[in-house]
Amino acid sequence: MQNQFKPLLIANWKMNPSKEDALELIARLNTLSYNDVKLIICPPATLIDPIASVINENILLGAQDCSIHGDNYGAFTGELSAYMLKSIGASYVILGHSERRLYHKETNEIVKIKASNAHAVGLNTIICVGEPIEAKQNKYTLDYIKEQIINSIPDSANPNNTIIAYEPIWAIGSGKIPEFLEISDVHQYVSELINKNFSNMSVSFENKFKVVYGGSVKSENASKILALDSVKGLLIGGASLVIDQISKIIISANESNKFK
Ligand code: 13P
Repeated sequence: MQNQFKPLLIANWKMNPSKEDALELIARLNTLSYNDVKLIICPPATLIDPIASVINENILLGAQDCSIHGDNYGAFTGELSAYMLKSIGASYVILGHSERRLYHKETNEIVKIKASNAHAVGLNTIICVGEPIEAKQNKYTLDYIKEQIINSIPDSANPNNTIIAYEPIWAIGSGKIPEFLEISDVHQYVSELINKNFSNMSVSFENKFKVVYGGSVKSENASKILALDSVKGLLIGGASLVIDQISKIIISANESNKFK
């Protein structure tokens, strides 16, 4: 018997929007039809709590980062522990986003510690990998991603608590996406690599790591990307803040019944 699979949609709101605009967007998102599509909204941490009290059952919440410090509380000025994020309603956390790697000097080793902290308190992780333009141009994308996966994923990761997001850095916010065949090939590679190295579970569909695509996802390309067999969902930046865009992407995901 095959499983019907609905793609995961993850909205990375980054450092947006105001509380007022966020609540207005959520009010609109609450009225849409989801048909089993899971929407994980990752707002700025300050908005997790107010949003948690107004979302409907189709929407889950995630943070965009957590502290490297494993303590629930402590003298770490400016930090938010994984435990604190979970306690206000997050069930996921994005880690290793290229913007954090670039602007906040996060290394694979830092991502690994943060992911391990998140798992320790029962937060699911969305771990981002993806190559810079030089790697693409010089054809070492797969080696680059392999290095990230091997070094940023902790032993605590398993297919039930970890999603891998493939986001080519050059595609983020640029309006450019890879060829569909390239997306397929990288996803296939990532999936095989991670399932071989980190999954000691059975290889049934439910117990395989899921790999989602991110980078300039829009309503115009979402259904074509979701149609790719190895793509289990989308990580959406800018378009997730525009109701017309995200509504259409949810409709595409609704219509994308993948049978595995
Ligand atoms: P855009 O969808 O705006 O390109 O951003 C992608 C992203 O970085 C999501 O994490």
